[in-house]
Amino acid sequence: MSVVGNPPRATAVTDANHDIPNAILEEAETLRSELRRHAYLYYHEARPEIGDAEYDDLFRRLQALEGQYPALESPDSPTKRVGAPPQDKFETVEHVAALLSLDSSEKPEDFVRFDERVRRALGDGVTPRYILEPKLDGASIELVYEDGVLTRAVTRGNGQQGERVTANIRTIPTVPLRLRTTVRPAPKLLALRGEVLMYISDFADFNARIAEAGLEPYASPRNSAAGSIRQLDSRVTASRKLDVLVYDVLVVEGDSFTSDIAGVEAIREWGFRVPERIQTATTVDEVLAYHSAYEEQRDELDYEIDGVVVKLDDLAARRAMGATSHHPRWAMALKFAPRQEVTVIEKIDIQVGRTGVLTPVAWLRPVVVGGVTVSRASLHNREELRRKDLREHDTVRIQRAGDVIPQVVEVIEHHDDRSPPFDMPDRCPVCETPVIEDGPRLVCPNRFGCNAQLKGRIIHFGSRSALDIEGLGEETANLLVDRGLVTQLAELFDVTPDHLVALEGFGEKSATALVEAIASKRTPDLNRFLIALGIPEVGVTVARTLAERFGSFDAIRRATTQQLVEIDGIGPRMSEAITSFFADERNAAAVDGVLARGVEPKTVELTSCDLPDLGTAVFTGAIPVPRVVAETAWRSVGGSTSGSVSKKTAFVVAGEKAGSKLAKAEKLGVEVLDFDEFLVRLTDHGGTLDGGDA
Ligand code: IVH
Repeated sequence: MSVVGNPPRATAVTDANHDIPNAILEEAETLRSELRRHAYLYYHEARPEIGDAEYDDLFRRLQALEGQYPALESPDSPTKRVGAPPQDKFETVEHVAALLSLDSSEKPEDFVRFDERVRRALGDGVTPRYILEPKLDGASIELVYEDGVLTRAVTRGNGQQGERVTANIRTIPTVPLRLRTTVRPAPKLLALRGEVLMYISDFADFNARIAEAGLEPYASPRNSAAGSIRQLDSRVTASRKLDVLVYDVLVVEGDSFTSDIAGVEAIREWGFRVPERIQTATTVDEVLAYHSAYEEQRDELDYEIDGVVVKLDDLAARRAMGATSHHPRWAMALKFAPRQEVTVIEKIDIQVGRTGVLTPVAWLRPVVVGGVTVSRASLHNREELRRKDLREHDTVRIQRAGDVIPQVVEVIEHHDDRSPPFDMPDRCPVCETPVIEDGPRLVCPNRFGCNAQLKGRIIHFGSRSALDIEGLGEETANLLVDRGLVTQLAELFDVTPDHLVALEGFGEKSATALVEAIASKRTPDLNRFLIALGIPEVGVTVARTLAERFGSFDAIRRATTQQLVEIDGIGPRMSEAITSFFADERNAAAVDGVLARGVEPKTVELTSCDLPDLGTAVFTGAIPVPRVVAETAWRSVGGSTSGSVSKKTAFVVAGEKAGSKLAKAEKLGVEVLDFDEFLVRLTDHGGTLDGGDA
């Protein structure tokens, strides 16, 4: 098995060490093993033998020695936990073994069917034994140990390749930098899979601090865990309280197990934390009882779980059953029903997005749904509003669809003197331009004169898949536009720290940081720049294709519809959208304004992991948002969409009354998702539905 990266150096015994006095080598080694032991006692056994001050003394002594003798440097030294100098970008690397997803369902009968399939596969009379675990709702990570030393930690990415975030993971105190070998020797190679978590209690404190600092708070503990491990400056990661629970041995060389439960035991012995209450079961009833017991206790846990995972315990039987390209056939997630709460719609108003689409939004009396405070929910469009007959002051049931996106489910109570139905306005609430109809949507056509659209463009420009400008969130965009500092996109580059300190929420430090963050994006990758411009129809995949095909921004700008349609993956509608975007005088002026500020998009070699091919989705039946919204959202994260099902379809999203497409998907064995599951997949890839109207 070849693993990227140099083999780890044995601590303190390298050639470079010959100048270091033996006494120092020994002292460093003793300090390291003592620090490791104390950290284990503290974090894993909750029975520290020394106090914090004493620990810090040992730590500082080791730091001092390493400072004085750079040859002592070692990737598994406890001093690495404080973080390393910032990186420019993360390297994309191949996983040691693919990190697959899980087949999932909320319905017990789907588990019964799963169990039947497993029984058929095992053959006559063999009773499957399952291992049961909570399904942790964090950020998936691969940890690789070579000769017992942590050599890399890689995010899930597209399952085949991910980003190498080793320096960040080293800062998490419960992740051994070197395997514990007091019970079990270190294997030659070990690849593990686990979940990075931020505890709900820590998340609440952390988000409060983020908000105080004027930054955009994270939406959930899971997002904040994922965001924390993707920091280029690992010292930032070090400042966040994270944990990793490890549940799977992906690859082991130099040790072996025949069951998962034995693997989990080994994981524990090597010094990792594993999920709580892992157990085995042999009957459907036991599995369902485990599921309901966990669901009942869900709110008492300090971390998010969204179901339980049921896996065949016997590893040989697993190999016999195999996997699809998406998930193993020997495991499934039995999800919990979405959490619901009751609250009141305080107000309904209209938000205008980057593309001018008017979206009705319910402002809710804040209510905590599964660790996340929800205070607004998109109502999507007129039809939805009418169908559910939602009005101000109604008491409503809400849920987080797929446990992520707030949704109003239904009205459960209203007063006798009920508010009148909410009327969609005939003018843009922001710039007062008469709105126009575009299918089910209302649109403000005043693209360049509408401040709401300008705010949307700014937010989009700085968003993660575009230029990824830290600190340029919704609040800042609102301030910049409302105070007249930015009247067109390009003026973002004219903002100075002096401008910003005059605004509330900005100190000298945060003002300089934002201006620097903006300036640092003057040479963006061409594909990201294309996304940032917000060209209709141009999502992650198309931007990448254009960047690869044309190589320079200028060439793309000059491309004709004819040239564009000839490219694989770009249809007539897209070509038309792209050429008319650049042909529009005001768009051209906006783009020129940005270029005149010294922005020079650069061509990069794009690897497939920058933009995983997320596959083709087909939507069918009645879904809660207009189909075009869902399709655009999926394309914007790098997927594609189609109107018909074939063997090549990655998955079908089936709403109510789905008919022949669903039947065809089932016949072809194409994966079928309900809308909530689709939302989870979308948000997994950083997408949102609201981004979808963009
Ligand atoms: S097993 C091939 N066990 O759920 C099977 N996954 O949709 C590998 N997850 O992103 C997964 N808790 O990161 C497994 N106890 C658990 C889990 C778990 C959370 C995550 C996993 C993946 C997602 C699957």
